[in-house]
Amino acid sequence: MNKGLLATRHSLLATCYLLLNNWCMALALYRKYRPKQLGEVLGQEGNINLLKNAAREGRLGHAYLFYGPRGTGKTTTARLIAKLLNCERRRTDTTFAQKGEPCNDCLACTAVDTQSSFDVIEIDAASNRGIDEIRNLKENIATAPAQGTHKIYIIDEAHMLTAPAWNALLKTLEEPPRHAVLILATTEYEKLPPTITSRTQRFLFKKLSKTHLMEKLRQIAKLEKIDIEDEALEIIAAAGEGSARDAESLLDQAASWGEKIDASMVEELTGRAGMKKVHGFAAHILKKELNEALVALRKLADEGHNMTEFTKELIHYLRKTLTLALNPNLRDAYKADFTDEELKNVSSLVPLIQTETCIALLRSLIRGYSEMRYSPFATIPLEIALIEQLSPKPGSGLK
Ligand SMILES: Nc1ncnc2c1ncn2[C@@H]1O[C@H](COP(=O)(O)OP(=O)(O)O)[C@@H](O)[C@H]1O
Ligand SMILES: [Mg+2]
Ligand SMILES: [Zn+2]
Repeated sequence: MNKGLLATRHSLLATCYLLLNNWCMALALYRKYRPKQLGEVLGQEGNINLLKNAAREGRLGHAYLFYGPRGTGKTTTARLIAKLLNCERRRTDTTFAQKGEPCNDCLACTAVDTQSSFDVIEIDAASNRGIDEIRNLKENIATAPAQGTHKIYIIDEAHMLTAPAWNALLKTLEEPPRHAVLILATTEYEKLPPTITSRTQRFLFKKLSKTHLMEKLRQIAKLEKIDIEDEALEIIAAAGEGSARDAESLLDQAASWGEKIDASMVEELTGRAGMKKVHGFAAHILKKELNEALVALRKLADEGHNMTEFTKELIHYLRKTLTLALNPNLRDAYKADFTDEELKNVSSLVPLIQTETCIALLRSLIRGYSEMRYSPFATIPLEIALIEQLSPKPGSGLK
């Protein structure tokens, strides 16, 4: 196909895609807000700086491996590399190339966004274990790129590839054509053969901190004019458990209700109690306020919370408070799980910690938790644990 024809076909495809997006409002938020610059990829600073510098100096590699939990930016970064390699503006404007970012405006960049680039081939190794795709790769990788200067193969879920596929890939990794770049992405690094991993530049993608997730959710809510309470955003961020995609999908679901979203609505959606409730409850326990704790427990159950999940959260919360009491330096590590305000709340409980008592309490709660999971008496094991630990014991020194 000649290049003019390709370009026409390409822009037709892109137009259709855009029309389709506008027409069906349903373009998932997580796709709409995929970072368009390396600088927008949150929580992966080390990786991003390395890649940015490599791009500035025109020495991006030929084989990358991105691994880590889902929804942390692996596919996103792979596509950004594809843009960086083929961006037309970067090729013609050396000052711009110094930025180490794609222009997001040229034909090559927009083609990556609309997934219509002939030079960026995304392979989903999970479907059919990648057999046909890797065969295609082997056959076609040597031919020159259609439009840009590079051909980029992004192999997602790479751990699903079969042995023959790995062998084929190994040959390519040993002698890649000058124009070819392979980017493997996986959530399961250990399943990849060492012969492959050792031939790639490896980048670990970490779970996003709650603060980063909140930042992104807040930004999306603002741009999409989603009316949502801060506490509700916090619950969504926590439920994302480090995955931006999961958090953004939850926000999407909540937004579809089309009314002001408050914490209780999101609690129902995620089956998670807000951190405020967990904190309040933990405070009663550590202050040995048995009555207040039992009343709060009743209220939570009446509100329809999943008490097993609540107990789990409570255990984590108390454990973090305890470890923070033992080692204040952990504050930094906990910044991933807590917002600044939450961190203040946890810290306020630290002076209440008596190590021995707290360990006994945690043991009781853990036992309660495992009993709750299989028990028809949803809240009773938790109640018993509290009574066991908080009722005054003669001679125990507890009031
Ligand atoms: N590090 C990140 N910073 C900002 N948004 C992110 C990040 N990681 C993921 N996302 C969001 O989640 C979506 C899915 O990310 P993706 O890169 O496909 O994740 P995966 O690591 O599973 O490949 C993106 O479109 C984006 O909205
Ligand atoms: Mg992915
Ligand atoms: Zn560009």
